[in-house]
Amino acid sequence: MDPEYRFSHKHLLGLADFSVTDIQAVLQTAESFKEISSRSIKKVPTLRGKTIINFFFEPSTRTRLSFEVAAKRMSADTFNISNSGSSTVKGETLIDTAKNLAAMNPDCIILRHPCSGAARLLAGHINASVLNAGDGTHEHPSQGLLDLMTVREAKGRIAGLKIAIIGDIAHSRVAHSNIIGFSKMGASVVVSGPATLIPPGVEELGAKVSKTVLKAVEGADVIMALRIQQERQQDPLFPSLREYANFFGVTQKVVAVASPEAIIMHPGPINRGVELDPKLADGSRSVILEQVANGVAVRMALLYLIMGGD
Ligand code: CP
Repeated sequence: MDPEYRFSHKHLLGLADFSVTDIQAVLQTAESFKEISSRSIKKVPTLRGKTIINFFFEPSTRTRLSFEVAAKRMSADTFNISNSGSSTVKGETLIDTAKNLAAMNPDCIILRHPCSGAARLLAGHINASVLNAGDGTHEHPSQGLLDLMTVREAKGRIAGLKIAIIGDIAHSRVAHSNIIGFSKMGASVVVSGPATLIPPGVEELGAKVSKTVLKAVEGADVIMALRIQQERQQDPLFPSLREYANFFGVTQKVVAVASPEAIIMHPGPINRGVELDPKLADGSRSVILEQVANGVAVRMALLYLIMGGD
């Protein structure tokens, strides 16, 4: 990396804002922090005295907990607030709630919200750093970064790989961050799913579209299955889950056409037997739990780089 390079982002709103060098800086920092999680005492003083608020308007297992684990491993003080536990249920706006949180002088607010653009809106109204933990169908940048780290760890590189992303591309912020991130890092990304779940203009993000899953996965180095985001769909967009599983599920038959060394990824939560065969989820090619482990390292790196830890 260029010795003159300095990470200069105050916020993490989307990978669209990050350069290749920014992404490399996060991955390199995460790789150096990963070892902390295997120590018997998993704590360093790097972010001592920093205050971090997790503000989650949607359910989350992995992202909320791994941001909290990451912050605590770096000795930051963390606080959690959810939609149901906040005064937004009494009619307060997101901006008013956020300004009140900001009045308590946190260094960073980590936001998950059902509306695309919510993180950017918040960043325009408060002084604290804002980290986007998933905004509507827009982006989930820390997931994109942990997926990049997991592929680099498994394959030794990202450039030149073929990444097949299968499922609900239209409603998946994970898909959007991954298409942007993998394309920037020199991989070729192919997506496939029901036509109703492929958004118009996805090619402009950097992906090719394949009408069949077999064609998308042919020769792929990485197969990423995505959950159908039924909570974001107003009307039924495919006939049934059984039909979806038959045509678009990642099964042994699908994986057979990929590279013999292909790895299987899924951001979670998995709907077993719908988008992914459970035997593949638990099999030797699966790196799904490595993704979760790397999530902690990537989030430690992001907090460190964004809050300028000593
Ligand atoms: N991958 C992911 O965002 O999972 P959670 O919804 O559990 O945070």
